[in-house]
Amino acid sequence: MVGQEEAREAAGIVVQIVKEGKFAGRGILLAGPPGTGKTAIAIAIARELGEDTPFVSLNAAEIYSVEKKKTEVLMQALRQAIGVRVREKRTVYEGVVTEFKPRVRKARGLAYGYLGFGSSELTLETQDDSLKISVGPEITEQLISLNVRVGDVIVIDAETGNVRKVGKVKSKAKRVYDIEPYKEVQIPSGPVKKTKEIVRVLTLHDIDLYYAAERTFFSFFGVFGTEREISDEIRRKTDETVKKMIDEGRAELVQGVLFIDDAHLLDLEAFSFLTKAMESELSPIIILATNRGMTKIRGTDIEAPHGIPRDLLDRLLIIPTRPYSEEELKTIIMIRADEEDVPLDDSALELLTKIAVERSLRYALQLMEPAKIVALREGRHKVSAEDIKKVSSLFTDVKTSLEIVEKYKDLLLS
Ligand SMILES: Nc1ncnc2c1ncn2[C@@H]1O[C@H](COP(=O)(O)OP(=O)(O)O)[C@@H](O)[C@H]1O
Ligand SMILES: [Mg+2]
Repeated sequence: MVGQEEAREAAGIVVQIVKEGKFAGRGILLAGPPGTGKTAIAIAIARELGEDTPFVSLNAAEIYSVEKKKTEVLMQALRQAIGVRVREKRTVYEGVVTEFKPRVRKARGLAYGYLGFGSSELTLETQDDSLKISVGPEITEQLISLNVRVGDVIVIDAETGNVRKVGKVKSKAKRVYDIEPYKEVQIPSGPVKKTKEIVRVLTLHDIDLYYAAERTFFSFFGVFGTEREISDEIRRKTDETVKKMIDEGRAELVQGVLFIDDAHLLDLEAFSFLTKAMESELSPIIILATNRGMTKIRGTDIEAPHGIPRDLLDRLLIIPTRPYSEEELKTIIMIRADEEDVPLDDSALELLTKIAVERSLRYALQLMEPAKIVALREGRHKVSAEDIKKVSSLFTDVKTSLEIVEKYKDLLLS
């Protein structure tokens, strides 16, 4: 990240407090103008807390759903943000794929005899071992949908048949046209078939869904989806199971992060629900973000800082984010252009920086990809100021689009 030193330092301190287990009963509020990195900081906090820290992002407007109660939406989000790390010893096949031949299952007598995939031949290798196995249609289908190729390291669970792609082996003929992002890994050692300790992070919500689905198995109305509300009874069952597993040393809790953007759109009921959640012993780190100053608490006539009631505000550590300087904006644009593989010439960089200053950073960033397409269409590899000008007339920022609609309205009236 670029700039925003104070906010980042504050975020670093929060991470330390959380790691020391001293953040109970509190939350965080990121307050600052749009495009100043509030979302980016929230994500960074979750990453710093650990690679498998659950991160749930919710826009406050999403709680006003037709299907679910507000508190139900929040409850599900909270439970998605609490992980349960489970350790299990499992028998697995692990190795780099050196041969994979799926067989298409054909029906006799059918002209277009495609009926899906049958079994397949699979050879897995480690540094010390090689094993040829024949796998059934279920595993074959997973291998295909995971796009498994020769050179991929995979793990197949011997019991459940669940397939996981770990990454690609380095040396195996790196193809330049590979568009999938992948992780480079070493060839595993030891036997292909072995007992391995597998660590997985499930969320409380995952387990709720699992129990809820199983229940419908016995009911006559077997319709189940996440659109349905989950009963307190199921949640209690989940909590009991998890608690038991923790007591037996088979699992541990992973406190995740629940990020709620546009927090000024929450109402009193939602705020009091969140305040209560923060107080409970099983709570994720709650990070709110807003770009509003003094404003009415939604659904009331009460003015409050950031539209948030006092009793919740008192529990929040507030981290302000400030607008970027021109130099910082330029650096951010350069970094993003590099990350998104959009080569910019100097004129394009200058113009995008100007747009970021005068319009918004987000708008400037949004123009990069379309500008690349325009440049490529004209056979140029680098994006120039011309391309930026072109796409900024094709795609407007919010302010301009409002002006245009406004102008159009006048034309209609006259
Ligand atoms: N300090 C920074 N360094 C690099 N990229 C940044 C930085 N701040 C913001 N960005 C990028 O700018 C865009 C807007 O940031 P975002 O976090 O969405 O802002 P906010 O949530 O405050 O509106 C994002 O694409 C983000 O990745
Ligand atoms: Mg944001």
